[in-house]
Amino acid sequence: PDRYAVFGSPIAHSRSPGIHAGFARVTGENIEYGTVEPPVEGFAPAVRAFLAGGGRGCNVTTPFKLQALAIADEQRPYAATAGAANCLKFEAGRIIAENFDGTGLVNDIQRNLGYDIAGRRVLLLGAGGAVRGAILPFLEARPTRLAVANRSADEARLLQSAFARHGALDASGLDDIEGAPFDLVVNATSASLFGELPAIPVRLFHDRTLAYELVYGRGLTPFMAFARESGAGRTVDGVGMLVEQAAEAFGWWRGVRPETGSVIQSLRASLP
Ligand code: ATR
Repeated sequence: PDRYAVFGSPIAHSRSPGIHAGFARVTGENIEYGTVEPPVEGFAPAVRAFLAGGGRGCNVTTPFKLQALAIADEQRPYAATAGAANCLKFEAGRIIAENFDGTGLVNDIQRNLGYDIAGRRVLLLGAGGAVRGAILPFLEARPTRLAVANRSADEARLLQSAFARHGALDASGLDDIEGAPFDLVVNATSASLFGELPAIPVRLFHDRTLAYELVYGRGLTPFMAFARESGAGRTVDGVGMLVEQAAEAFGWWRGVRPETGSVIQSLRASLP
């Protein structure tokens, strides 16, 4: 089998090996997908050793996504604009960096949830790596309005200028968001990881708003509960995004795009 792996620290609880094993089953591709936990200072040598040992590509997660971009010989546009890579492909000894997090999110929203982004008003909450990676795929999906709101408004404004040549972004703090209500609100802050709610107003939502929580496996997060109470029509977590970004990686490596429905279903069933 061709060898792939996910690099991260910690990595023991990663869902990626299970997801890619599922894709191998549904496509009949002969791959092996493991985990690698390099020492914090040892990411680059660990990737090179994996490459030297016959590895064909890898996924990369916390805390190595920035280094993954830096060691690449070639940076694809989504990775370059995100300033981070979540996927590497090894070709003739060269390392190519991609980032499928944003595409995975957009694909989950449009294909799985049946929610066309074109013509919608979209709000991204946060200004960290997750939002940076989502902006370009979202702009390409042609919303009428794309807004980024962050606790520190300055960080949102930095993103606004960084992406100015790609398209128009509204930028604000959480307490001065303009243009509400939105058709889609994505919580891409890390607040849910701490059981916290970003300080957002009730009036962000209307009865057909899709409230999308990026984290998964944590049940109803404070953001999801708040969105429901505030009248959002639908709330979902990030399981579909996780599987969709993996499907993009698999397709990029193998030239075969797996059907994701059954893998999303079984992953969802295995989560708390
Ligand atoms: P990631 O790479 O997952 O996006 P990050 O780069 O650490 O994570 O960014 C975390 C984001 O969550 C930031 O936008 C942060 O806001 P600040 O820039 O103001 O720090 C946001 N965040 C974290 N905890 C939050 C909370 N309790 N309420 C609102 N925003 C929060």
